[in-house]
Amino acid sequence: MSDAKTGIPGNPAIPNDDDCADCTRRQFFAKLGVGSLIVAGAGSGLFAYEYFSPNVLFEAPPIVKAGKPDQFPPNSVTLDPQSGIYLVSSAKGYYALGAVCTHLGCLTAWKPELDLIACPCHGSRFNRDGIKVAGPAPQPLPWFKVWLADDGYLMVDRSSILKVQEFVKV
Ligand code: FES
Repeated sequence: MSDAKTGIPGNPAIPNDDDCADCTRRQFFAKLGVGSLIVAGAGSGLFAYEYFSPNVLFEAPPIVKAGKPDQFPPNSVTLDPQSGIYLVSSAKGYYALGAVCTHLGCLTAWKPELDLIACPCHGSRFNRDGIKVAGPAPQPLPWFKVWLADDGYLMVDRSSILKVQEFVKV
């Protein structure tokens, strides 16, 4: 009498994979091996993607649309923390200063009660022309190129540092 659970149909001498405990272990290790290969392949693919991806730091474009001149009241200093600039409206015209402290790079703040730009990190102070009046900052705040665009907006180029003061008259 043959056992229906053992042997391949037609050849009971060859064990059926589904019925044999040893074969089940073999199948388990085969699946484990295939799974390991898939995981290793995915890891290698991810590593290769990271390796071949360019190491690029995406920075905001240097040219900023600061706003329309009537947004800046006369004799005002307006900080745009997103772009790190001050737009200053003065009797001579408009100009833009960098708002990042020249000491260690903290974002400064306009203090109207002091009529000064102050750095919260180590106490540097600048007047509204960007000249340092106190603290460890080694340089004045930079003046950036400003112009009036055709659409009536004041534009600031943060990559263009002026050597002499320039004002935009509107
Ligand atoms: S970072 Fe501004 S004073 Fe040090």
